[in-house]
Amino acid sequence: MGRALQWPESNPLFKSHPELSFRKGSYTYAVETKGKQTVYSVTDGTRTISLPIRWSFGKGAQTWVLEKDGELYESMVSYYPSIDGLEITTGDAALNPQNLDEAVGRKLRKSEPKDCFGCHSSNAVSNGELTFKTLEPGVTCGHCHTGSTAHMIAAVQGGEFDAAPPDLKKLSTEDISNFCGQCHRTWETVVRSGWRGEVDVRFQPYRLANSKCFSGTDPRISCIACHDPHQELATAEGSYDGKCLACHASKNASAPGGGHNDAKACTVANANCASCHMPKVKLPNGLMTFHDHEIRIVKPGAPYPD
Ligand code: HEC
Ligand code: HEC
Ligand code: HEC
Ligand code: HEC
Ligand code: HEC
Ligand code: HEC
Repeated sequence: MGRALQWPESNPLFKSHPELSFRKGSYTYAVETKGKQTVYSVTDGTRTISLPIRWSFGKGAQTWVLEKDGELYESMVSYYPSIDGLEITTGDAALNPQNLDEAVGRKLRKSEPKDCFGCHSSNAVSNGELTFKTLEPGVTCGHCHTGSTAHMIAAVQGGEFDAAPPDLKKLSTEDISNFCGQCHRTWETVVRSGWRGEVDVRFQPYRLANSKCFSGTDPRISCIACHDPHQELATAEGSYDGKCLACHASKNASAPGGGHNDAKACTVANANCASCHMPKVKLPNGLMTFHDHEIRIVKPGAPYPD
């Protein structure tokens, strides 16, 4: 999460891809790096708008937040590793720009920049205002361990605001889901916003809560049982088997740590559990893939359960 927001000079994408371009309708986009400067430009053949990139969002797929005439915009095109190139930014396909100015990107709504920078960087918001002076890219230690987060956790627990740094280890599984859900979105946020269909696969706290495996009071199914927020995401096949077998019985393994693994055993396989039961799901635009945290039996041809 340390690279959720990056400065242009330390963005590996700009080093490996100094020239990116893309054409959509009558507009041609270019993202060009020369030395420490990266410039985003769009042209209609007669006129060109060029803007320096200051903020890159995302470490795989990347979108750029641009400043034009004192307003902030989300770039109309983004980089996607799945196609190793530019495409229209997820969610912006229906915008259909009418002129070059609109083709630059989607103008952010009034409160939106604060939210974007609030989730992707640290110390970006003080007294409810966006402050670039103090901004640090990415989710830093302090973002999870002190400050505004202490307030957030107090709110989640329904308790009084406590100025002392919270002991994150003491949170229940449900509280952890809400804690990570400040950014990854909570079950309530997804339901309230009415997000349905494959787009909701990216909201892990929502998907996980809908799984039969989930219990808000069982620490073996909390986000931090499977993910250490201080380490890189584990992606090797089978890395999560021990997590499943902490609850599920298995013919050839006893529960790690000697606990009770009394949930049913698999009748099909005894390793690589997540590869079948947490399938990869593509977003509707086909550009990004997430692992479905609604752990379940996947039946071939069955519709996506939302
Ligand atoms: C302040 C916001 C914030 C909080 C709180 C947060 N995350 Fe994240 N997390 C992000 C962002 C933003 C990314 C996306 C980074 C990217 O792909 O560019 C991310 C990415 C991740 C990834 C994927 C990393 C990778 O290499 O693909 C995991 C796993 C993850 N978060 C787990 C957690 C867990 C577990 C918690 C709770 C303990 C948590 N996050 C809390 C913002 C947050
Ligand atoms: C509520 C917190 C939150 C807000 C607000 C937010 N993001 Fe994110 N963003 C995340 C998290 C968490 C991820 C990690 C991927 C995931 O699980 O969806 C992410 C992923 C991304 C990615 C990586 C590609 C992708 O779509 O997964 C980009 C690019 C991105 N965000 C850009 C933005 C921009 C630009 C804004 C503002 C217009 C924004 N985000 C607002 C939390 C947030
Ligand atoms: C995405 C949120 C997040 C970020 C970022 C984060 N932490 Fe944590 N940290 C947690 C959570 C949740 C726990 C409690 C669960 C655990 O022990 O893994 C924790 C636990 C700890 C602990 C153990 C505390 C104890 O009571 O034993 C230490 C030490 C720590 N973090 C230091 C750091 C440092 C240093 C950084 C920055 C390099 C950092 N953390 C970044 C979420 C985060
Ligand atoms: C039972 C284990 C398990 C639990 C619990 C779990 N995850 Fe995951 N998570 C996984 C697996 C497996 C992957 C895929 C890793 C890979 O890339 O191979 C994953 C991937 C992710 C990713 C990367 C994006 C993706 O979908 O590939 C994020 C972000 C994430 N988890 C966040 C969370 C959050 C937030 C929670 C708590 C609500 C959570 N996870 C709970 C097993 C778990
Ligand atoms: C906290 C304990 C716990 C963890 C961790 C856990 N499960 Fe479960 N799981 C359960 C319980 C309880 C049920 C429902 C009762 C049963 O089947 O015994 C269940 C049900 C299931 C089902 C049947 C779902 C259905 O639709 O009928 C599958 C498949 C499954 N788990 C796979 C997994 C996999 C794979 C993992 C690891 C990625 C995992 N579970 C992690 C407790 C857990
Ligand atoms: C090759 C794909 C695959 C792998 C790998 C796999 N499973 Fe399964 N699992 C299935 C299928 C398919 C079913 C449904 C079988 C049926 O309906 O008869 C199933 C059923 C289950 C059930 C429900 C059993 C019941 O009696 O209701 C659980 C629980 C489960 N798996 C857990 C796991 C765990 C834990 C692992 C890893 C140790 C695992 N699975 C590995 C495909 C897989």
